[in-house]
Amino acid sequence: MRTVKVPLGDRSYSIKIGGGLLPRLGNECRRLKLGSRCAVVTDRTVGPLYARTALASLRQAGFAPMEIRVPAGETTKSLRTIHTCYDQLARHRIERSSFITALGGGVVGDMGGFLAASYLRGIDFVQVPTTLLAQVDSSVGGKVGVNLKAGKNLVGAFYQPRLVLCDLDSLKTLPKRELRAGLAEVIKYGIIDDATLFRRLERTLPELLQLDAVGLAHIVARSCQIKAKIVEQDEREDGLRAILNYGHTIGHALETISRYGKYLHGEAISIGQVAASRISRDVLGLGQAEVDRIEALFARAGLRTTVRLATPQMAKLFAAMKLDKKVSRGKVKFVLAKKIGQVEFGIDVPRATIKTALK
Ligand SMILES: NC(=O)c1ccc[n+]([C@@H]2O[C@H](COP(=O)([O-])OP(=O)(O)OC[C@H]3O[C@@H](n4cnc5c(N)ncnc54)[C@H](O)[C@@H]3O)[C@@H](O)[C@H]2O)c1
Ligand SMILES: [Zn+2]
Repeated sequence: MRTVKVPLGDRSYSIKIGGGLLPRLGNECRRLKLGSRCAVVTDRTVGPLYARTALASLRQAGFAPMEIRVPAGETTKSLRTIHTCYDQLARHRIERSSFITALGGGVVGDMGGFLAASYLRGIDFVQVPTTLLAQVDSSVGGKVGVNLKAGKNLVGAFYQPRLVLCDLDSLKTLPKRELRAGLAEVIKYGIIDDATLFRRLERTLPELLQLDAVGLAHIVARSCQIKAKIVEQDEREDGLRAILNYGHTIGHALETISRYGKYLHGEAISIGQVAASRISRDVLGLGQAEVDRIEALFARAGLRTTVRLATPQMAKLFAAMKLDKKVSRGKVKFVLAKKIGQVEFGIDVPRATIKTALK
């Protein structure tokens, strides 16, 4: 097992990464001296696969767990779901000393985290992420929340978990498409912070796609380390944390104009990251050879690297970029790479340069 520490003063916690960790959930929670009642929040896909093991482990360690099962999918990240969950928590007398465990992907993690942050003004929270994306990204850093009709993640909080338990065995049941989408975030960490990680991905991609245990443990741990390091320096996204949005300006806009139906998040940001590498070449002088390596790695991971947009769609894409909540004073700011492993943020990019990059 590998442990990555997220040092945030009295809100510090550990991310534990390895195979066979889910049956140890109860013991890990006991070590943290969490209260005896707890709720395991999961979805209708993950619940049937893993809830039994999670609940048994908690019971065996002396906890009294209940289960809350919500529908799978992005629409579950809503205030309506939160409301029904509050009622269930109250009915089962979940109290201030109790805790919530989110067992699932980023949807369950974000929603369950917001539930924990707001119920009784905040109760303890444990993340058990079961998708690659959730293990390397959404479960780390403390952003929790739900969507509104007006947009994604518009209601939420910064609320750190007490523990994150990444059981790599859970990736065995994850659809390959979801695995590839999660890899898009891992590649992102290579581009923004770690050329060695990027090279390792170039070298070991086929084995990772086959779920090689040692390789997976390494890239999940390295990704968490990088995110933890960035979050430690900028917990509430006042500055540096922006670099985690490399490829996301265009990626989010693509998700918006396709109404979240067509692309998984990881697929949209793959296109976004490749486009951002071309913009980086034109604006910051990133070498063409590095642009080619970036594109080739996404392609080998089975991710799309380009998008064809007709003129009206292109206009919609620009409108969506301007509505992104990370836009400041109407200007779309980009994170761009100087070289693989090093980025700069807050860069203005002329519209024509963005258009060329998307061609
Ligand atoms: N909080 C953050 O910092 C942050 C960062 C990135 C993304 N997010 C959020 O994360 C969400 C996306 O997360 P996701 O990609 O994990 O999606 P998800 O939670 O919807 O999971 C994807 C699908 O895989 C299923 N699944 C999950 N684990 C499985 C397993 N082990 N085996 C089989 N099926 C499994 C789920 O039921 C779901 O159908 C988005 O809502 C996004 O906004 C949050
Ligand atoms: Zn992302």
